[in-house]
Amino acid sequence: MTRPRKTPETLRSARWFAPDDLRSFGHRSRMMQLGYSDADYRDRPIIGILNTWSELNACHSHFPERVKDVKRGILQAGGFPVEMPSLSVDESFTKPTSMLYRNMLAMEVEENILSHPLDGVVLMGGCDKTTPGLVMGAITAGVPMIYLPAGPMLRGNYAGRVLGSGSDAWKYWDERRAGNITDAEWSGVEGGIARSAGTCMTMGTASTMTAITDAMGLTLPGASSIPAADSGHQRMGADCGRRIVDMVWEDLTPEVIITQGAVRNAAIVAMATGCSTNAVVHLIAMARRAGVALTLDDLDALGRITPLIANVRPSGKDYLMEDFYYAGGLRALMKQIEGSLDTSCLTVTGKTMGDNLEGAVVYNDDVIRPLSNPVYKEGSLAVLRGNLCPDGAVIKPAACDPKYYQHQGPALVFDSYPDMKAAIEDEDLAVTPDTVLVLRNAGPQGGPGMPEWGMLPIPKALIKQGHRDMLRISDARMSGTSYGACVLHVAPESFVGGPLALLQTGDIVRLDLEGRRLDMLVPDAELAARRAAWTPPERRFERGWGWMYSQHVGQADTGCDFDYLQRDFGAAAGEPDIF
Ligand code: FES
Repeated sequence: MTRPRKTPETLRSARWFAPDDLRSFGHRSRMMQLGYSDADYRDRPIIGILNTWSELNACHSHFPERVKDVKRGILQAGGFPVEMPSLSVDESFTKPTSMLYRNMLAMEVEENILSHPLDGVVLMGGCDKTTPGLVMGAITAGVPMIYLPAGPMLRGNYAGRVLGSGSDAWKYWDERRAGNITDAEWSGVEGGIARSAGTCMTMGTASTMTAITDAMGLTLPGASSIPAADSGHQRMGADCGRRIVDMVWEDLTPEVIITQGAVRNAAIVAMATGCSTNAVVHLIAMARRAGVALTLDDLDALGRITPLIANVRPSGKDYLMEDFYYAGGLRALMKQIEGSLDTSCLTVTGKTMGDNLEGAVVYNDDVIRPLSNPVYKEGSLAVLRGNLCPDGAVIKPAACDPKYYQHQGPALVFDSYPDMKAAIEDEDLAVTPDTVLVLRNAGPQGGPGMPEWGMLPIPKALIKQGHRDMLRISDARMSGTSYGACVLHVAPESFVGGPLALLQTGDIVRLDLEGRRLDMLVPDAELAARRAAWTPPERRFERGWGWMYSQHVGQADTGCDFDYLQRDFGAAAGEPDIF
């Protein structure tokens, strides 16, 4: 679709600076107060750089430098850059969980764009929730946007051993609990596992979400794979700055880019990379903001036919994001699966995805596998249904021991994380390898915010016997760097009365992965009696953001967006009045 080019008079920002009256006087005089002359910004696209930097966001610690590259590009292309801080939502320090604040970031971005004289935006994010938060808000705001991924950090290293974000923390923690490593070794792992700026360098949620954004056509081609510490990342920053200015003149808005085909491309790429289970929640939320219907069943269907070809941990066995970049990065991976993609989709380059993939080459086919030699033929994600999860639940078959694909065992149920944590350290806890460990009240409202508790710790009694996996079920999410036989995102969640709330310790639970079923083998009459006796837990919040969150957040199967932020909730407010 060809859209008329913008002219200086039709720029969105022009409304703030013309006609020559008291309103525009106020805006112009304040620009002068900021040190800018008319010539700095007049008739130029004003580009907001929404920067999610904070001194407590280790993944974005290079953003104060990187934003200079972006500004350089914007100025070179004839635009006027304005940096605007956005909620940082870092993954490590934000409690109880960063997910509680994804929608806050999305709201902030939408309102910040619409209430200011911005013609286009560069979104600087990368740490898990910043990608969907920034993109969701910018989709709704509707101005041209380009996403600048923070880039993965370098490989971790300790004592000559390569360390992967998250995954090796869990692994070495279990060894520490088993008494197999010393304090000095533990401290060495702590110091070596995150040794540069950038996001987690496994195919965790950060790398999954930036890859999804890349595959959707919202980044410069392959931008998501460039390590934060690589000088190519600086050059990509300047390229983003140059390109967004042209996108404004071309009026290349997100609604043109985020089509059904683009969302499907993103979902296929997610499956081929062995994505984080968090991709399900965020991709559904992003797609719905763009008016594209995407369901759990769509994702399950794609999971069944898409081979996992990125040999990147935790789903892959051997490599990390730095290796993935050297092997050709996301463009090379997408070239391998080009036949499954809609290559006609338009991207931020103004060209199609097919154009962007021209010349992409795989340099190491053990990292990015050919279709004839995938890491797994299928199985990045599977969606389960049954009397425990009528609205769905998610499991990552590729990251768990296949012996759990068909499993039946007695439930051991906990209502709170602290209760579970205390119990699992008891070496006399009555558990066997068949036990199904269950945590409830960890969903969007119960958590609150659906924290990443879903990789429930293996009871010490089993650890001591040498076991490192067991079937676990919760309405929580899990970190993209986690692994194991973990059923997640049970919907509806137990806190609002989903059937998980009716499960009791000792009930037999059955997982049938091939049949995509998860059931408790409890007679219907007994479940009805338990339903009649069930009382809702006490509300978590009496005021503030938490209260608002609880009133409006949706369930996992629909992306956990707020009802009133969704596209079909009501008409958009439109451009602000300027009096
Ligand atoms: Fe920021 Fe993992 S903590 S990406």
